Amino acid sequence: MASLHPILKKSYWILASLGGAYAIFMLMLINPWIQRHALYAHRINSGFWYNVSNPEEFGFAKGQVTPFNLTTADGESLFCWHVLPLDVYLKHENEIAQKATEHAEDLTLTVGYKLLKKDHKSKVVINFHGNAGHIADGHRPATYRSISGIPHTHLITCDYRGFGRSTLLNAPHIPTEPGLIIDGVSIVSYVLTSLQHPASRTLLLGQSLGTAVTTATALYFTTPSSPLLPSLPIPTAPPSTPTPFAAILLIAPFPTLPTLLQTYKIKGVIPILSPLRAYPRLSTYLSSKIADHWPTQPRLEALLSAENAPLRLSLLHARNDQDIDFRLSESIFDALEARLLSGAEGALSAQERRSIQGGERVRRGAFAYRRVEDADAARGGKGGKSVELEIVRYGGHNEIVGFAQVGLAVRRAFREAEVEGGGGRFRPGLDVE
Ligand SMILES: *[C@@H]1O[C@H](CO)[C@@H](O)[C@H](O)[C@H]1NC(C)=O
Ligand SMILES: *[C@@H]1O[C@H](CO)[C@@H](O)[C@H](O)[C@H]1NC(C)=O
Repeated sequence: MASLHPILKKSYWILASLGGAYAIFMLMLINPWIQRHALYAHRINSGFWYNVSNPEEFGFAKGQVTPFNLTTADGESLFCWHVLPLDVYLKHENEIAQKATEHAEDLTLTVGYKLLKKDHKSKVVINFHGNAGHIADGHRPATYRSISGIPHTHLITCDYRGFGRSTLLNAPHIPTEPGLIIDGVSIVSYVLTSLQHPASRTLLLGQSLGTAVTTATALYFTTPSSPLLPSLPIPTAPPSTPTPFAAILLIAPFPTLPTLLQTYKIKGVIPILSPLRAYPRLSTYLSSKIADHWPTQPRLEALLSAENAPLRLSLLHARNDQDIDFRLSESIFDALEARLLSGAEGALSAQERRSIQGGERVRRGAFAYRRVEDADAARGGKGGKSVELEIVRYGGHNEIVGFAQVGLAVRRAFREAEVEGGGGRFRPGLDVE
């Protein structure tokens, strides 16, 4: 018995110090400045070792990527990339390689832009990355490379204010929810207005924190006066009619930041609020101290309910995501499904699901697939609304961005946009077999 004592003592002290460290960590997070540093993690940046002005380092062909600066509505300068699709690159390789530049003063004067503009089949994917790091951090280039394999499909992606080489000139000199929404709105405005690219051939793609930015941005272009958006100091007139994008694709989304923090684990290891489940009052108190709420689910519900605003929304989540639980995507889908089924006449939902062992005959490669659509979308008509949820088995939180499922979702969205109204449209679901 006596021999166990030191071990018990040791484990007691280990537990006590872990508890103490956790308590200090939580107390620190009450401070909004520290909290935002933890949430956005914009200072965690491997840009020191990598050179984002040299996209070849990240696996792109010479001149395939044009780095450029984009000025936001409130005067921040965002560092962005324009990535050319490989079919366009191959056709014009000579000219592109010769005129490759490490930074375009004006994107509209580049070969890449000229090629985007003159091709009436050009499509643009606007990518909103997750928290921490820079434009080409971790698995991010894998997304850009996989999308560049889709014919006629260009990609625009930027670092938010304070991330990578983007500036942080405006008070409070830290990324905030309103600040990142201004970035999102400015990037989309740039594509639609400065680049004069139609929304019907533009897809918004977000991952993790980027799903929250994407959703808020899409809501601004549908209902700029929505009470779910912060008041934005945007000098240009907001859109007067809803802007229907080809599709919105959200990878690893979460309903709201407070909900996420109930289960979130930093890097899949350090929990935030989940250890406090037994202490609801403490947990509620800490939740009330969350500075930015990012209410994605209410914003998606608002998008779904907006009149005269077609919506093609895809949610994609890996079952083995250790950071954000895939059930959070399911809960978003449940809410949207219920809303569409109760609100739209003739709305239909369908699902298919594999078991862990597989072996079933399914129509989709997804591990689990659910879809809900109104009668208009089911007919393939313009103006319809559809929401789909795809759970894939692998890919975790980050690696998934470069997976085939993302490229397939983008291709499906553009294919549906192209054949809209026509027959023979691809109709996934449970309606056969
Ligand atoms: C980054 O790459 C660009 C383009 O190749 C080059 O001009 C620049 O000198 C590089 N910067 C550093 C710090 O290596
Ligand atoms: C892009 O913006 C950054 C931040 O303001 C600035 O340091 C850089 O000089 C700009 N690059 C060009 C080519 O304008």
